[in-house]
Amino acid sequence: MSIHAENIRRVTTQRLIEMKKRGEKISMLTAYDFTMGTIVDNAGIDIILVGDSASNVMCGHLTTLPITLEQMIFMAKSVVRGVKRAMVVVDMPFGSYQGNSKEALASAIRIMKETHGDCLKLEGGEEIIESVKRILSAGIPIMGHLGLMPQSINKYGSYTVRAKEQEEAEKLIRDAHLLEEAGCFAIVLEKIPAKLAEQVALELTIPVIGIGAGGGVDGQVLVLHDMIGLTQDFSPRFLRRYANLQGIMNEAIAHYVSDVKSGDFPNAKEQY
Ligand code: KIV
Repeated sequence: MSIHAENIRRVTTQRLIEMKKRGEKISMLTAYDFTMGTIVDNAGIDIILVGDSASNVMCGHLTTLPITLEQMIFMAKSVVRGVKRAMVVVDMPFGSYQGNSKEALASAIRIMKETHGDCLKLEGGEEIIESVKRILSAGIPIMGHLGLMPQSINKYGSYTVRAKEQEEAEKLIRDAHLLEEAGCFAIVLEKIPAKLAEQVALELTIPVIGIGAGGGVDGQVLVLHDMIGLTQDFSPRFLRRYANLQGIMNEAIAHYVSDVKSGDFPNAKEQY
């Protein structure tokens, strides 16, 4: 039976903090459209992220930088229509919040008004803290994002593990505390040493969700298309592939092509 059939208790920021307190791990996956949002929600995920990774997996860009506010809003609206239980977090795209806090708030309000998502995710610590505080002051919950921040890829020059050196690790810890003190309800840590991620999760009272950050954090997030094998050319060490949907689709489509060519499809029962 679908979890939507009766009495759905939605995942809220408060519920996530309770989960951390009792040691229950939090599950999170991306989705970018209605059908995938519905499937992921029905399967019982806690958080759905309309991530700006859509720039890569949905639009075919090399980085997350080109995706626009309008495109993120279009995708988030579609996901929200399919979700009944999970919390829906929407990524603020590159350029929509780094300028100044007034612009950041305007972008944030637009996303919330037009998509009906539950909250927003922003990349960065001290550099964007004014924007974080201003958005929070409007009653919009924020999930932080530290470690590897793909919107800053042109600064890093590569997608290698971040915060391996002490100076960067210390800044990450400071930023995590800053985000918690400002009022963020959770933080994503991407591609950093497992020990550092565990330390941050122990020091913070808000949930810490990892991607490539080891098992010592409060939850895990992956990009849906990578974990179900719709994409095949991205294979970092932290990725576990739970299915090979690209293989299944290839086979099904090749079968269909062959049936159309041979005249096997449609048969007598498949017509009016
Ligand atoms: O956009 C995204 O998919 C993300 C996850 C990698 C956390 O930010």
